[in-house]
Amino acid sequence: MLPSDPPIPAASYHSLVTDHTQLASSVAAQGGVVMLIGAPDTGKSTLAGEILRQAASQGKVTAYVDADVAQSTVGPPGCVGLKWVRSVEDLRTISEADALRFVGSTNPARLVLQMVLATAALVEQAHASADLVVIDTTGTVSGVVGQTLKYHKVETCHPRLVVGLQRGSELDPIIGMLQRFFSVDVITAEVHPDLVPVSPDVRSEVRVQQFGKALSHPLEAWRIKPTVFAPTLPTGLDLDRLAGMVVGVQDGFGACLGLGVLEYTEGVLRVLTNHGEGMQGLRLGSMRIDPQTYETKPVNLRELMFGLAL
Ligand SMILES: Nc1ncnc2c1ncn2[C@@H]1O[C@H](COP(=O)(O)OP(=O)(O)O)[C@@H](O)[C@H]1O
Ligand SMILES: [Mg+2]
Repeated sequence: MLPSDPPIPAASYHSLVTDHTQLASSVAAQGGVVMLIGAPDTGKSTLAGEILRQAASQGKVTAYVDADVAQSTVGPPGCVGLKWVRSVEDLRTISEADALRFVGSTNPARLVLQMVLATAALVEQAHASADLVVIDTTGTVSGVVGQTLKYHKVETCHPRLVVGLQRGSELDPIIGMLQRFFSVDVITAEVHPDLVPVSPDVRSEVRVQQFGKALSHPLEAWRIKPTVFAPTLPTGLDLDRLAGMVVGVQDGFGACLGLGVLEYTEGVLRVLTNHGEGMQGLRLGSMRIDPQTYETKPVNLRELMFGLAL
């Protein structure tokens, strides 16, 4: 039986800092895999940029793995993106991903497996040749989803350090859990006093623009067979149900080349995309998108395929 309150392992430390520039410089100096966590609007992406800027200006090879599928910095929403930052110049093109893994939703709630594996795959890819890997994460830090997501990200990405940005003590439960189960070092900092939260309307407008960039017109239309999907379609599925579904255009090596949207007209199934070259298969996402307005709506894949609301 476990003792009622097992102590935090001695190897862990949990220190509180207030100076973000100093925090960035100590993280940049050490290198390794570093994971940033915090609720939305706590300054994670800004701090990630500062860490990368400082490390790159010291000549370090750095990689940014952006696992925030809702508020993407690297690549389109709904994907985890990798950006190599070998010089400060590379930060100017931070939105242009060097590698992508498809998740298929901007809401991690139903896609914890996809989120964790996409992030771990890109961290592994980056870690092979980077001095420093910075992982940015979604703002889901509480409840079963937030805890499960962060637990398995730490389990698979093996960060040497977790940096938590918080208001008050909101991260205490998740940090306590991560230290208990992984003995990971943690630094927490208060949200910077100058930070002005971005309104939900602005954030959703940014998402619309990012989808617009990822699916910019003119899109090429590629005729496709119903056998190209993961997961595979059930026999007899009415293909009309796939219209408007967001897909990940995949190469044959697990990577995502970019986004596409399905179209079904006059009995012909097509994918509209700018990434058809090298396409080996399509991963079905969990959202529909209007290819004109770029507004998205969540879709339950099981319901779409089998009519079950599970
Ligand atoms: N240290 C800071 N000082 C001033 N503004 C900041 C600071 N950190 C972040 N911001 C601003 O606050 C907003 C949210 O920051 P962001 O890094 O996007 O947070 P998160 O990635 O946690 O959602 C952005 O508009 C950003 O420019
Ligand atoms: Mg962010």
